[in-house]
Amino acid sequence: MVPRGAVTARGSTAPLRAAPRLLPSSELCPLSPALGGVNERTFVAIKPDGVQRRLVGEIIRRFERKGLQLVGMKLLQASEELLKEHYISLQDRPFYSRLVKYMSSGPIVAMVWQGLDVVKTVRTMIGETNPAESRPGTIRGDFCVEVGKNVIHGSDSVESAQQEISLWFRPEELPCWEDTAARWIYE
Ligand code: RTP
Ligand code: MG
Repeated sequence: MVPRGAVTARGSTAPLRAAPRLLPSSELCPLSPALGGVNERTFVAIKPDGVQRRLVGEIIRRFERKGLQLVGMKLLQASEELLKEHYISLQDRPFYSRLVKYMSSGPIVAMVWQGLDVVKTVRTMIGETNPAESRPGTIRGDFCVEVGKNVIHGSDSVESAQQEISLWFRPEELPCWEDTAARWIYE
């Protein structure tokens, strides 16, 4: 590797790029429920139909362009055990087993997004549970038709976001990184 600012074999100066800063584990962002304001976090999952229908890029693009910060992401085949826990509050609903089957029918893209009022903002961008009631411009309003194939999940409260983030992610999967665009997004 050429040291920063060093003269290369061709005689030109190597670009003065900031070296990526590796964070020791002590600097990992805490999963504290006290996180709020611009540090509020939410859990988002692109469901198996969203992955199969190649909507991953489109969905990430919408959240990025909004100004939200991506702080965790992985593609995984979720176990039934994990999904049953995730939707535990719906266990008495008639569609519960169908929902778990749907969510385990293929890989999911699990993500954590951060920003001011991010839980509410993401829910607004997702739309209503039933795509038929979702306005155009929302993710469900634009990309799906039926409640049983509604493409994406977003936490419904700050408290459930905390629970879901700790259910789906280990702390070391959520590295802290400085959002250098923040001063152009927040007052
Ligand atoms: P999600 O948790 O997936 O973000 O959806 P949500 O908050 O908008 O709706 P929720 O009531 O939490 O339902 C979770 C998921 O269950 C499926 N569902 N099917 N009547 C039905 O057949 C029915 N109702 C809900 C949907 O996939 C919904 O997103
Ligand atoms: Mg829900």
